[in-house]
Amino acid sequence: MSTLPTLRCGLALRDRVALAPLTNTQSHADGTLSDDELTWLRARAEGGFRWISTCAAHVSEEGHAWEGQLGVASEAHVEGLTRLATALREAGAHSVVQLYHGGARATLAPDKLTTADGDGVRGATAGDLARVQADFVAAAVRSEAAGFDGVEIHGANGYLFTQFLAPEDNPRTDAWGGDLAGRAKLLLDTLRAVRAAVSPGFAVGVRLSPVDTWWRRGLVLADGAQVARWVAEAGADFVHLSLSDAAGSPPHEDTDVPVARVVRDALPPEVPLFAAGGIWTRADAARAHDAGVDVVVLGRSAIAHPDWPRVSSASDFEPLRPPWPPEHLSSVAVGPDLLRYLEKFPGMVVGGTPARE
Ligand SMILES: Cc1cc2nc3c(=O)[nH]c(=O)nc-3n(C[C@H](O)[C@H](O)[C@H](O)COP(=O)(O)O)c2cc1C
Repeated sequence: MSTLPTLRCGLALRDRVALAPLTNTQSHADGTLSDDELTWLRARAEGGFRWISTCAAHVSEEGHAWEGQLGVASEAHVEGLTRLATALREAGAHSVVQLYHGGARATLAPDKLTTADGDGVRGATAGDLARVQADFVAAAVRSEAAGFDGVEIHGANGYLFTQFLAPEDNPRTDAWGGDLAGRAKLLLDTLRAVRAAVSPGFAVGVRLSPVDTWWRRGLVLADGAQVARWVAEAGADFVHLSLSDAAGSPPHEDTDVPVARVVRDALPPEVPLFAAGGIWTRADAARAHDAGVDVVVLGRSAIAHPDWPRVSSASDFEPLRPPWPPEHLSSVAVGPDLLRYLEKFPGMVVGGTPARE
C-alpha cells in the first residue's frame, strides 16, 4: 500500500483517496459551468482531494438527462470546463470529466420494447450508436483541450452502457446484443475510440456497476469481472466500481468474497481499481483496501467533509452522517440548487424528504 499507483498512461496518482462523481444540478440550463459548481468542486480540491471527478456530464444534447447537468457536448462548454480544470490543477488535484449518456433516461434505449421511460425515447439504430460513439470521442477531446487530466466513461448506475450490458434491458439480436460480448460491444468500441483519439498521456477510465445491486437488473459478478477484464484489455487506465459497500460481497450471490477482490483479480496489476461505497472513516478505507481496492472513492462523506483527506486521520474524527443540517451544507460550499437536490433524497437533509421506514 505504500507506493502510489501510476496509471499506464503515465499519470502518477497523488493519493489513494478520490472524490466520487456527484451530480450537483448546479450547471446553467445550457450545460455551461456555474460559479456554484466551480466553488463546490474547488472546495474539495482545496480540502485535500487529489483526484476530482466532475458529475456525470452529457456528451450530447440527446444524452442530456436532467436539469442542471454539466455539458461537455459542444464548444460552448469548453470555456467553463477550462476554468474548472485550471482551478482544480491550481489547487493540487488531478481532474477527470465523467462522460455520460442517459440512454433510456434521455432519448435512446437499447430496444423500443424496453423504453418504459418516456415518450421521447426510442430504440437505437446502428446509425445512432455510431453517433453516440463519435459524441463520446468528441467530448473526450474537448476535455483534454480544456486541461483535464483524463475522462471516465460512465458505464455504471443504469444509464446507456449499463442498459446495453443488462440482459433485461437489452433484447437486441444484432451485433450490440445477445451474449455478454455483444452487450459489451458499445462500451468497448467507445472506449477504444476514445483511447485512440486522445493523447497517450491522457487518462481514460471506465466506471462500472459490476454486479446487480438494489434494482436487480444488471450483471452477475462473474460477468461484471469479465467486462472489467475486457475494459482493461481495451486500454482503460483505471476501472472504477460503483458499489454500495466498497468492501462488501455481492448482495444477491452466495459468497463472502468481496466484489472488489473478484474484480481486482480479473485485472492486470498495472490497472488500478477505484471503488466507491460507504467510505466514511479511515477504517472503512482500510477495509476496502484489504478487499482489493487501490483507490477509495468518496461520495456522501465528501459532501459533508470537503476536507476529509486532511481531517479523517485525527483520532477524534467523527463523520457527520445524514441527515445533514442545511446550515452545515451551506458552510461546505453546497449552493442553493444542490441543497434543493439533496433535499429530495430520503433522509439526506434535515427538513427534506423523510427517510424511508
Ligand atoms: C448526490 C449524489 C449524486 C451522484 N451523482 C453521480 C454521478 O453523477 N455519477 C456517478 O457515477 N455516480 C453518482 N453518484 C454515486 C456516487 O458517485 C457514489 O458511487 C455513491 O454515492 C456511493 O458512495 P458513498 O457511499 O461514498 O456515497 C451520486 C451519488 C449521490 C449521493
